[in-house]
Amino acid sequence: MRRENGTCPSCGVHTGAIENILIPRVAANFAVTSGFGRGIRVMIKRFAILSMLMPFAASAAWAAPLPKPASFGICGACHKVDKGAPNTIGPNLFGIGGTKSGEVPGFAFSPAMKKGSVVWNKANLVKFIMEPQKTVPGTRMPFAGLKNAESANAIADYILSLK
Ligand code: HEC
Repeated sequence: MRRENGTCPSCGVHTGAIENILIPRVAANFAVTSGFGRGIRVMIKRFAILSMLMPFAASAAWAAPLPKPASFGICGACHKVDKGAPNTIGPNLFGIGGTKSGEVPGFAFSPAMKKGSVVWNKANLVKFIMEPQKTVPGTRMPFAGLKNAESANAIADYILSLK
């Protein structure tokens, strides 16, 4: 169709030079009426889908591990909390939420803890953190317990978020 030198094959009048100006204009017009317009509609649709997914994205973020509370520092002396980290003086606490006491593989638990009489849910964790010996009589965890209920709650929430 397009000839650089000579007349336009359709109108027989204008030359290639004019064609060079006309064709980009027509192309731009076409883009606005079809492709570009459709692009915008697709973008709006995508945005709608995205905003429908936002609540799920938000809840996924909420399920991520909570920040480590400062009060966990004392526990951290004996407990690692990262997935796959080794047991040290105490068992690695990653993923213990919902398990029975004494189930962390590779740790030499006391018979009291191994009996598995306690499930590590929120209530039992809080109790254990505040009064280890009363909650699991005979535990060898060398820790007297935290008096501050608020700290114990925050630590329990933190441990349960490690999954
Ligand atoms: C001086 C070391 C030490 C400190 C400090 C310590 N722990 Fe422990 N922890 C242990 C030992 C050892 C055990 C295993 C006890 C047993 O077998 O009876 C244990 C066991 C546990 C268990 C049971 C795990 C399971 O899977 O049954 C939990 C939960 C726990 N500790 C949480 C904590 C929290 C939370 C803190 C801080 C408030 C803390 N510990 C402080 C040494 C410690």
